[in-house]
Amino acid sequence: MRYCSITELKSSNYYMNDISQNSKNDIICGCSGTTSAQIQALLNQGVLDLDRISRITGALSGCGGCEFDLQVLLRNHRSQTNLED
Ligand code: FES
Repeated sequence: MRYCSITELKSSNYYMNDISQNSKNDIICGCSGTTSAQIQALLNQGVLDLDRISRITGALSGCGGCEFDLQVLLRNHRSQTNLED
């Protein structure tokens, strides 16, 4: 298991940013290197469970700092596809 340092979080340029403004290739999980595009691809394939996304990508398996951003992507996907929370 690898944890993000504060330096990594500050230099990653996604922390505390509006995720909707990020490019799809931005790393959303600094611990695993998972990109927004990888998460979006899983969501588009119907993988809508954060535990399953974590097992597949490694996101959320380190410091947990990406949880909020992952939830935003999931919520946005659900609203765009008219799925209930
Ligand atoms: S940023 Fe640490 S687990 Fe995702």
